[in-house]
Amino acid sequence: MNVLIIGSGGREHALAWKVAQSPRLSKLFIAPGNPGTMTCGENVPIDTDNHADVIRFCMDERIDLVIVGPEIPLAAGLVDSLFESGIRCFGPKQAAAQIESSKVFSKDFMARHHIPTARYATFTQLDEAIRYLKSVDYPVVIKASGLAAGKGVILPDTFEKAKTTLENIFIEKTFGDAGLEVVIEERLSGQEVSLMSFTDGTSVMPMLPAQDHKRLLDDDQGPNTGGMGAYAPAPIFTAEMMTEAIESVLKPAIDGMRMEGNPFVGVLYAGLILTKSGLSVLEFNCRFGDPETQVVLPLLETDLLDVVDACVNGNLADVDIRWKDGAAVCVVLASKGYPEKSESGKKVEFSELPENVVCFYAGTKTDSNGNIITAGGRVFGLTTWANEIGVAIRDVYANIEKVSFEGMQYRNDIGKRTLSRTHG
Ligand code: AMP
Ligand code: GLY
Repeated sequence: MNVLIIGSGGREHALAWKVAQSPRLSKLFIAPGNPGTMTCGENVPIDTDNHADVIRFCMDERIDLVIVGPEIPLAAGLVDSLFESGIRCFGPKQAAAQIESSKVFSKDFMARHHIPTARYATFTQLDEAIRYLKSVDYPVVIKASGLAAGKGVILPDTFEKAKTTLENIFIEKTFGDAGLEVVIEERLSGQEVSLMSFTDGTSVMPMLPAQDHKRLLDDDQGPNTGGMGAYAPAPIFTAEMMTEAIESVLKPAIDGMRMEGNPFVGVLYAGLILTKSGLSVLEFNCRFGDPETQVVLPLLETDLLDVVDACVNGNLADVDIRWKDGAAVCVVLASKGYPEKSESGKKVEFSELPENVVCFYAGTKTDSNGNIITAGGRVFGLTTWANEIGVAIRDVYANIEKVSFEGMQYRNDIGKRTLSRTHG
């Protein structure tokens, strides 16, 4: 198979790394890719916003399958355009991608299908939103409905802060069109679990549950980020919870999308929160998570191309998806200033890594002298796996300074909450 992966982050490097191991692969291309994906296949500088260019490339290179990484091209209908030209593609069409691209759609969809989620209301007018804020007696979360690169969720501690947030969204237009509609929902508490699943639109198969670390600093301090590290599987997510999630979240979501005429093919990612009264969906994403993919794919025993091909063919139920024993840990190496204003252009130094440690590249590029330099907030995800999570954590931190650049910051406690749990 000739395969094209769309995207340029750590998630796409992990996808490329896994696809490159497939015996079914003939040629792998990544558009636009990054200096890491170059070691798995050929990077191609196509503008993926231009659907006609992507289609032409797929025709010229006889691409058998396109895998779309990020949400933006999915929300822009790249999958629809490719299918119209007869090109097979793994990922939801635009209408199905709304499950992520419109939080109003997503919440109303969950309500229609009785999928557990926080109480909420949706608004297009400031005065109505403020009136609602005054009427509720619980802490709230305010969400811009549209895509906002992970920044559109605000957790105000006071009424005044909530009011200011709404004013910023509706009057100052801090999120632009993404803030034309707003969801106000009840703030829940509990541990969060990222449950990604493969689906062909009818069958749905969960991946290993993972935990992301969203805050910048150790002990979950500091601002929210795109994710500073992850581990899988998440021991807190029991087999009973998995059954509950399949029956009350994943199946109703896939059935609901299909029944409404928007069958969802690709990865459905449920962001779950484990509350005292059961699990609840914080959000759906219409794609692989980043950095969750960097810890889940190394544990996938089955050929990823077998799985994604079956999703596109509609016969996922025939595939036996196997996982390796053990656990994986990924620590994100971020630039100074991330997440507010990241430095870039810093030269990266590498020492040799042992075989069980992989450095997934994210915000990086190659300069005119062939050096790797930083080019974004999250620069690398250093990842390892082992029979036990404790060993994986030890190995990843033992190698962490083998990749370094000026101003590099990372968390020291990725995965460590699993250890304190076992030791009481
Ligand atoms: P989202 O982009 O919707 O996943 O939200 C980003 C983060 O905001 C989540 O990972 C949670 O930490 C937090 N969050 C979102 N919704 C809620 C909620 N209803 N209650 C508590 N925290 C929330
Ligand atoms: N790690 C969170 C996300 O991919 O949305």
